[in-house]
Amino acid sequence: MNKIPDSQILVIFGASGDLTHRKLMPALFELFERKLLPEKFLIVGVARTRQNTEEFRQSLYESMLRSGKTYTTDNPHLTSFLRCVYYIVCETTEGEAYGALFREIEQLRNAAGIDDNLLFYLATPPTMYSIIPPFIQAHHQNRSKQGWRRIIIEKPYGSNESEARHLDRLLGGIFPEREIYRIDHFLGKETVQNILVLRFANAIWEPLWNRNYIDHIEITATETLGVEQRGSYYDSAGALRDMVQSHLLQIMAFIAMEPPATFEPEAIRDEISKVFRSLRPLSRDDIARHTLRGQYTTGVIDGQQVPAYREEAHVDPQSATETFVALKLFIDNWRWADVPVYIYTGKRLAEKRSEAVIHFRNTPRTFFPGQCCGNSCNQLVITLQPDESIRLRFGLKQPGSNFEVSQVSMDFFYKSLATTRLPGAYERLLLDAMRGDALLYSRSDALELSWHFLAPLLDCWEQEKDEGLITYPAGCKIPHEVISRINADPYLLEESVCSCCNPDLRP
Ligand code: BG6
Repeated sequence: MNKIPDSQILVIFGASGDLTHRKLMPALFELFERKLLPEKFLIVGVARTRQNTEEFRQSLYESMLRSGKTYTTDNPHLTSFLRCVYYIVCETTEGEAYGALFREIEQLRNAAGIDDNLLFYLATPPTMYSIIPPFIQAHHQNRSKQGWRRIIIEKPYGSNESEARHLDRLLGGIFPEREIYRIDHFLGKETVQNILVLRFANAIWEPLWNRNYIDHIEITATETLGVEQRGSYYDSAGALRDMVQSHLLQIMAFIAMEPPATFEPEAIRDEISKVFRSLRPLSRDDIARHTLRGQYTTGVIDGQQVPAYREEAHVDPQSATETFVALKLFIDNWRWADVPVYIYTGKRLAEKRSEAVIHFRNTPRTFFPGQCCGNSCNQLVITLQPDESIRLRFGLKQPGSNFEVSQVSMDFFYKSLATTRLPGAYERLLLDAMRGDALLYSRSDALELSWHFLAPLLDCWEQEKDEGLITYPAGCKIPHEVISRINADPYLLEESVCSCCNPDLRP
């Protein structure tokens, strides 16, 4: 598991962009500092921006200092890390440019004595996913007799089922499936991976982990951020594509999957695909009753007035794109039949929080006053971020009173592990791809199945435009319509639902 990866060159297409500066390079630097990178290793940034290696290193250096981490200007490690970074200008939309690119890479590789292993990372706009790989193939760089070739593709992986299929067919004709790494950075989060350990390293849950004991499941990812500089991407994507199709359905699959036969990537990915295959198709009626989409209007976040979504840069002023989604779905298999799974996600909400809550069933009879208003006292709350934790809630007799019950919680917080730092998502995922471990990357069938499940909803919202789109003021909690519309549970009502935009809940 902890093996140092083979010697290799990481070739990042789109190297002058935001993702490379804000996520990839800081993650690679962490790996460098922890001595987890191969001894013989180079990073080659490729992009159209005209600059030389020195200028590229300088821009990385500055953005890493700006990133708010504890890097100091005289950090000697940072300087030696940047020495393994090179930059090559390439008109990536033009096939002829790749000859020179690969010649330069080959020279760098020979000079550094690196084996013939290239890991390509497409940190480019998604339109390039179908352009760059064929050029790599045309220059015979999609395979190697002496070493390996791998490719990492960022999300969004297509924007609907047919695009995802098309991309799969295209990439599948160029790289073997085992060398295609479709990244979902949520799976790189320590707390998401821990769902597997929590379930499969602890025998106490398994007898309870099914429809007999679990009433419903909630997966929530709320953010305070708006669309930042990504208005044009987001306006064509929306929350359903941006968060649900990828991150949140993957978390659901980790919670819902059967124990794999072995802890090998293929065995785990098989189980994930089985969950997606069991999703109950969304009928027109389900869409009307079990889904809700919203868009933020102007409001206040952290004391600052923020613009409405339609006023954001590069967003259509008439846009019907959803920035909030609530969804109730069912997994029609033996373990989960009729157990609702609620998914909520949105931008510009009151707080940043990603959480999965397993709500256990109530006792068959309620004897005690205060027993959670007729609902179960028992929830397992897995907080993925920001205060990473696992909490088990249960009813306790209030001392001294008759038999009054109040809900208390047994809490584990990751920060109590004083000596253990949580590696960043990109750190873990990059390292896995360098080692050839695809466990935390999505397989093509799972992605296609998740797109297939969402297709009726995407089609319906596209046809309906802003009919049925609710609005919520930036800075509010989960919009209250969620309760009336998709009948979510009182746990949500009590803790997360907005009172400011719901007259019934106003204090
Ligand atoms: C990205 C989405 O994949 O995940 C963003 O495109 C979102 O819109 C982000 O803000 C959330 O990730 P995290 O790790 O900050 O919760």
